[in-house]
Formats: sequence, C-alpha cells, structure tokens
Amino acid sequence: MTRMRRISADHRKAAKLGIIFLFLGAQASLGAQAGTPALPGNDNCLKCHAQSTGRAAEVVKIHLASAHGKARVNCGDCHGGDPDQADKMKAHAANFVGKPDRNATLAMCGSCHDPQLAQFKTGKHFPEKQGIPRLDCAECHGAHAVGNPPETFSFGQVCVSCHGLEYLPALPQQFQELLNLADDLRDDLKLLVAKGRQPSDEITKQRRQIRRLTAELVHPTDRAGGLERIPQILAQGESLKLQIRKAAGER
Ligand code: HEC
Ligand code: HEC
Ligand code: HEC
Ligand code: HEC
Ligand code: HEC
Repeated sequence: MTRMRRISADHRKAAKLGIIFLFLGAQASLGAQAGTPALPGNDNCLKCHAQSTGRAAEVVKIHLASAHGKARVNCGDCHGGDPDQADKMKAHAANFVGKPDRNATLAMCGSCHDPQLAQFKTGKHFPEKQGIPRLDCAECHGAHAVGNPPETFSFGQVCVSCHGLEYLPALPQQFQELLNLADDLRDDLKLLVAKGRQPSDEITKQRRQIRRLTAELVHPTDRAGGLERIPQILAQGESLKLQIRKAAGER
C-alpha cells in the first residue's frame, strides 16, 4: 500500500476503509448499536457530533480511537466551547476555536505539550520571520488521529515530501532510518495486538523511551545531535523489534 504524506487528508479514506471501525467494533459490544460508537462520559460535543453527518461526525470515530480519545482528552480540551451545552450555538460559544490555523494549532497543542512546543520553537521548522512557511504539530501528527494514524500514513514519507526535493537538500540517511523505525514499531505493535496479545510493560516502556528520544531530535530539528545519537537509538530499536516479534510468536 502506498503511504501518503499528510494524515488530515487521509482521514476520510481511512474512515471509508473501515480501519477505525475495527477498533470501534470492540466498543460496540459494550452496548452501543452497530455504527454508533459508545461515548465516554456525558459530553455534548461528542453526543451531538456523533449524531451529525459528514465531517462533523467522522472526526468523532477518528478521535475516539486516538491516543487522546483513549486518554479522555475531549473535543473541548482542544477546541474550547462549553461541553455542558446541548445547543450548538451555546456549545460553540465560550473560547471556541473552530478550525485553527497554523499558529493557533501550535498554541492548542502546546497548551498541554509545553516541552515539545518549546523544543519545536528552537528548530528550523519554526522560522522566526513572518511569511516563511512554518510547520505545525498536525502536519506530522494529524489533528484527530494522534497516536493512531491511518495505515497509509508514514513518518518517513512526511519528511521526504519536503526534504530531498528541489528546494531542500535531503536529510542525512540516519534521520530517514529513525523515522522508518517509528513506522516499523507502529506496524509491529499493531500486528502483535492483532494476534490478540498485549505488549508487555517492558516493551511499552522501551517504545516510550524511543519515542521520546526521537521527538527530542525531530522537534528541534537537531541535525548534529541526530548524527551523534541516532545510531544508538536504531540499535535499541532493532532490539525492541526482536522482542516484539518474539512476543508475537515469530522468529
Ligand atoms: C447540538 C449539536 C452540536 C454540539 C452540542 C456541538 N457541535 Fe460542533 N458542530 C455541530 C455541527 C452540525 C457542525 C458542522 C458545521 C456547522 O453546522 O456549524 C459543527 C462544527 C464544529 C467544528 C468545526 C468548525 C469549523 O469551523 O469547521 C468544531 C471544531 C466543533 N463543532 C467542535 C465542537 C465542540 C468542541 C463542542 C463542545 C464544546 C461542539 N462542537 C458541540 C454540532 C454540534
Ligand atoms: C488534540 C486536539 C483536538 C481534539 C481533541 C479535537 N480536535 Fe478537532 N481539530 C483539531 C485541529 C488541529 C483541527 C484543524 C485540522 C486541520 O486544519 O486539518 C481540527 C478540526 C476540526 C474540525 C474541522 C473539520 C476538519 O477535519 O478539518 C471539526 C469538525 C472538528 N475538529 C471537530 C472535533 C470534535 C467533534 C472533536 C471531539 C470528538 C475534536 N474535534 C477533537 C484539533 C483537535
Ligand atoms: C488537554 C491536553 C492535551 C492537548 C490540548 C493535546 N494533547 Fe496530546 N496528549 C495529551 C495526553 C493526556 C496524552 C496521552 C499521554 C500518554 O498516554 O502518556 C497525549 C499524547 C500525545 C502524543 C503521543 C501519542 C502516542 O503516540 O501515544 C502526541 C504525539 C500528542 N499528544 C500530540 C498532540 C498534538 C499534535 C496536539 C494538538 C493537535 C495535542 N497533542 C493536544 C494531552 C493533550
Ligand atoms: C513542509 C516541509 C517540511 C517537512 C514536511 C519536514 N521538513 Fe525538515 N525542514 C524544512 C525546512 C524548510 C527546513 C530548514 C532548512 C534550512 O534552513 O536550511 C528543515 C530543516 C530540517 C532539519 C535541520 C537540517 C539542518 O541542516 O540543520 C532537520 C534535521 C529536519 N528538517 C528534519 C525533518 C524530519 C525528521 C522531518 C519528518 C519527520 C521533516 N524535517 C519534515 C521543511 C520540512
Ligand atoms: C516534523 C514532524 C513533527 C512535527 C512538526 C511535530 N512533531 Fe511531535 N513528534 C514527531 C516524531 C517523529 C515523534 C516520535 C514519534 C514516534 O516515535 O512514534 C514525535 C513525538 C511527539 C510526542 C511524544 C513525545 C514523547 O516524549 O513521547 C509529543 C507529545 C509530540 N510529538 C507533540 C508535538 C507537538 C505539540 C508539536 C507542535 C509543537 C509537534 N509534536 C510537532 C514529529 C513531529
């Protein structure tokens, strides 16, 4: 399958493919009707959006299957508004941010992920001069699919959609391998779960560690630090891959 560049453009496709419904299938057995996700808590944003149509409804399924949905970070935690109101106008009132632009997205994500935002601002993806395009967090992580992007998404592809084209030199090979590692670990862990096995605490711990080390190089676009530290991360990644395959009953 060809992996695509941006997550956001991919949401629709993923929903159509039914990838998200695989996850929701498990929830549906908890009492919801088929096709209607079981909604956590008593949140009017979720309730009304789940009953809406089109994009307003699609994002609910994508969100619930994301790292945020699982951690009970809700619509209002990012978009503001008032989740206690059942009326759309009233719910969409207080501090409501509809569709954030780049800078609003950085502020939105940074309101909880302050260390990541601070590191990001020191990097070359956040040029000081106005008018030069910046990246925002959703460009790499997606808006609603954070931690659980569609199958077609690849971190490796995100980077080469800019680096290595005519106006930007290619990244050092090490960076490409680092991002490929993030993709591989995601695929391997999905396979493990698909076999009905949960990753051990040790596997989860190492995965988190590698994620943090990767983020600490990519957010500040630390080329020099990368050349120095990536070989060690890759070695740790290879060892983790073996552990995951072993847990999945493969050689
Ligand atoms: C009673 C129904 C209802 C409630 C409650 C509701 N929404 Fe909406 N929302 C909608 C519908 C329908 C749309 C589609 C666009 C429109 O009709 O305004 C929408 C659109 C949006 C958009 C997209 C805006 C844009 O500019 O594209 C966001 C973001 C959003 N809602 C977030 C929220 C959040 C956060 C809450 C809770 C604080 C919430 N909604 C509560 C019905 C609702
Ligand atoms: C982690 C933060 C975050 C959470 C949680 C979140 N959103 Fe969003 N939402 C965003 C961002 C960022 C965008 C802008 C996406 C873009 O520009 O592509 C967005 C865009 C939207 C849009 C506009 C349509 C689109 O896809 O561009 C709607 C509708 C929406 N959100 C509704 C919701 C609803 C309903 C929930 C809860 C089920 C929710 N959002 C939860 C960050 C979030
Ligand atoms: C209201 C607080 C809050 C906001 C706003 C928020 N997040 Fe999060 N984020 C969390 C929590 C809580 C977790 C789960 C932490 C965990 O599982 O250790 C998380 C996890 C993550 C992760 C790790 C996912 C993984 O692979 O497990 C990423 C990446 C992330 N957020 C990016 C974003 C982006 C991008 C935005 C803006 C579109 C955003 N966050 C907005 C609270 C927030
Ligand atoms: C939207 C385009 C775009 C995307 C996507 C992108 N970058 Fe960049 N990147 C840039 C620009 C522009 C620069 C600044 C180049 C300069 O100033 O010489 C940069 C600089 C860097 C640098 C610093 C290079 C140096 O010589 O100091 C690193 C490292 C980097 N990016 C890594 C990544 C990684 C890893 C990814 C994928 C996860 C990625 N980038 C995705 C546009 C992008
Ligand atoms: C150029 C792509 C790119 C951009 C832009 C980007 N990130 Fe990340 N981020 C990554 C990569 C790659 C990882 C490591 C993912 C993995 O290993 O699964 C990561 C990891 C994270 C994590 C998990 C960190 C941990 O210690 O586990 C959080 C939280 C996060 N990013 C938040 C943000 C926020 C907030 C922004 C915007 C200020 C942002 N990211 C912008 C590429 C990016």
